[in-house]
Amino acid sequence: MTTSTTTNSIRFTRRVSEMQISPTLAVLNRAAELMASGVDVVDFGPGEPDFTTPEAICEAGRQAIARGYTKYTNALGSLELREAIASRYNRRYGSGIKAAHVIAGTGGKQELFNLMLALVSDGDEVIIPAPYWVSFPDQVAFAGGKPVFAQTERADHFRPTMDIIRAVATDRTRGVIVNSPCNPSGAVIEEAELQAIVEFCQSRGLFLVFDETYEFFIYEGRKHVSAFRFFEQYPETVAIVNSMSKTFAMTGWRLGYAIAHPAIISALGKIQSHSTSNPSSISQAAAIGALKGDDSAVRTMYEAYVERRAWLVEAINRIDGIHCDPPDGAFYIFPDVGDLFARVGVHSSTAFADFLLEKARVAVVPGDAFGAGDFVRISYATSMDRLQEGVARIERAVGELS
Ligand SMILES: Cc1ncc(COP(=O)(O)O)c(C=O)c1O
Repeated sequence: MTTSTTTNSIRFTRRVSEMQISPTLAVLNRAAELMASGVDVVDFGPGEPDFTTPEAICEAGRQAIARGYTKYTNALGSLELREAIASRYNRRYGSGIKAAHVIAGTGGKQELFNLMLALVSDGDEVIIPAPYWVSFPDQVAFAGGKPVFAQTERADHFRPTMDIIRAVATDRTRGVIVNSPCNPSGAVIEEAELQAIVEFCQSRGLFLVFDETYEFFIYEGRKHVSAFRFFEQYPETVAIVNSMSKTFAMTGWRLGYAIAHPAIISALGKIQSHSTSNPSSISQAAAIGALKGDDSAVRTMYEAYVERRAWLVEAINRIDGIHCDPPDGAFYIFPDVGDLFARVGVHSSTAFADFLLEKARVAVVPGDAFGAGDFVRISYATSMDRLQEGVARIERAVGELS
């Protein structure tokens, strides 16, 4: 068979053509290539726990296979799983939600995506605090909407506030997405600000999508404030997205969920029934095992993050020209490296990340990917040894500049 190199017959939709494959993530692809060719790169890129899934959860998955739980389930997820999710929230918050308020999907990402498809119409504006998780703007745009960024400030620890939301709201605003703790900055929203944002959304008939994927990873006495607290009061306004991925080190199982008004859950179910159908039945069984378990393995992982974070924040701040505030949550630090740009001879965090990869053999994610051009994201979901090695390499590479 011969393959033509040019063609007139492949035509993509505007939807797909406008979707960004972040050029800044090119540095991670390059890092992967280097590693595949045997180069020792310290990889600070990962957005997933370095731990394997706790054994009891794996066992629940194995048992599902052994008993033949390998068929389609309801497209919204099995009743047992949806009830287990509802019960976990009810136990924690003293609420009374039911399976009808819950849908399970192939990762929290699918539910975020489907929420945009269900709630955003052409031209609707959706407010996203920046820095933001990379997928939010593209999900909004894919649904036909326009992402509008509300800038948080380093001086406020990147915590979103009502003021920054109000400053960019227009009569075309359709909703707000808040991610707390935030990937990449770790910022955890203050309760009063979240309440003000929820009430603002409610009073204007907007949605508030609240992504609490990193809820378990909060440090130094800060408290997670979930918009779920307002869910029963404002069920038409608030939608929660959560995931098994980070808390239970289950990224590859692809299991996340949304909690929302039953009418919204039905709409999400409709989309799911015509696209992916149910998330893997085996992953659902494993998730039930995780949700009904005692969280002891999760606490062990958390202790490791606490130790790594403390060491890393201090060590990175010893490097001249790098400024890093201790992040509230998640498993990333988000240092300001802008002061080093002139010394390195670059003008962007993407070029700075290239420099680190080439000179230090350390991979970081440039802040450009998250709408924060002076910063880089360093993941500490890696061993203490690798953290120490990576920081030493950055220190050497930066030291050689002056
Ligand atoms: C902020 C945030 N939300 C949602 C997700 C989606 O996670 P998953 O689809 O694995 O549940 C991620 C994953 O990186 C994330 O960082």
